[in-house]
Amino acid sequence: MNDMKPLEIKKIFENAQDFLPLNGTDYIELYVGNAKQAAYYYKSAFGFQTIAYSGLETGNMDTVSYVLNQGKIRLVLTSSLVADSPINAHVNKHGDGVKVIALWVDDATKSWEETTRRGAKSVFEPKTEKDADGYTVRSAIHTYGETIHVFVERSHYKGVFLPGFQPMVDANNPSPIGLKYVDHMVGNVPLGNMGIWCDFYAEVMGFTQLVSFDDKDISTEYTALMSKVMSNGNGRIKFPINEPAEGKKKSQIEEYIHFYNGAGVQHIAVATDNIIETVTALRQRGVEFLHVPEIYYDTVLERVGTIDEDLEPLRDLNILIDRDDEGYLLQIFTKPVVDRPTLFFEIIQRKGAQSFGKGNFKALFEAMEREQELRGTL
Ligand SMILES: [Fe+2]
Repeated sequence: MNDMKPLEIKKIFENAQDFLPLNGTDYIELYVGNAKQAAYYYKSAFGFQTIAYSGLETGNMDTVSYVLNQGKIRLVLTSSLVADSPINAHVNKHGDGVKVIALWVDDATKSWEETTRRGAKSVFEPKTEKDADGYTVRSAIHTYGETIHVFVERSHYKGVFLPGFQPMVDANNPSPIGLKYVDHMVGNVPLGNMGIWCDFYAEVMGFTQLVSFDDKDISTEYTALMSKVMSNGNGRIKFPINEPAEGKKKSQIEEYIHFYNGAGVQHIAVATDNIIETVTALRQRGVEFLHVPEIYYDTVLERVGTIDEDLEPLRDLNILIDRDDEGYLLQIFTKPVVDRPTLFFEIIQRKGAQSFGKGNFKALFEAMEREQELRGTL
């Protein structure tokens, strides 16, 4: 991953203050009950490769972490090796879930100073970590729930991940399936909190609001939600924030908040250049997806117009299509990848469109409600 040199990054959203240049997502760290087995799942099912490790063999007596990579995506799976630890408390409360959304910056000290000065709550002050491969500077602030942002400055580091981690070459690395980069990460927050966290991203992080959806856009017979999409200036970091809206029954957002015991990351959207190949591979490897009824495909081309792909493989794989002013997109959502109905993945291929699939919301949420009904939590 040392090809990640800072690039010339163009500001594309003029409204973003962007005092905090973010080069991209550096890594996503999940706290899990059993990192070894979680790593096996993400490798076998999603085609990640093991690149680094920290644990007893590297002198780390408290925690164990596996660092997995595919395209520009780095996933870190961390468990505790001891009885009483914040990691165990996190897993006990939330189940396996995203703890850290790490952001790649040129200056982790300035990032921390600028954000804490604007009201962010610090998790840890800038700290320099070294080993034979150089040094990194990291700092961290709180965001919604118990989720945190770690700022990572790595221009003086040539190691495989971070100081303290050793390269790990595993014989078992099922082939990659074409995942390229993190497109967006969605947070679910309790009723009444969406505005608070959108303000946080605007005022503390210098983001701008791209779009908002209200309960008229996103409602089914039973449930509703509201969503706003926040982006940094260069568009590389996009965080939609959802909150439940009043509905006849318990919405999927409320179900999430209930099982996660508060706000947290709902889904990680990862981009591919060939969604048909990627989803074919995921299905072969046992990844389960939400199912939209056949009838969706009867009218979809009337709604989205001509597309490059044949409809048949999209229908067979249950991939959804949407169009905006700039182009179209193809997307599909997995069922939860953890025991609780909380975290899931979205696979997305953008063909010009910069939006999030609004035209698919109704079909999708009806599909989610069928799953909720099976769980008895609707
Ligand atoms: Fe999404």
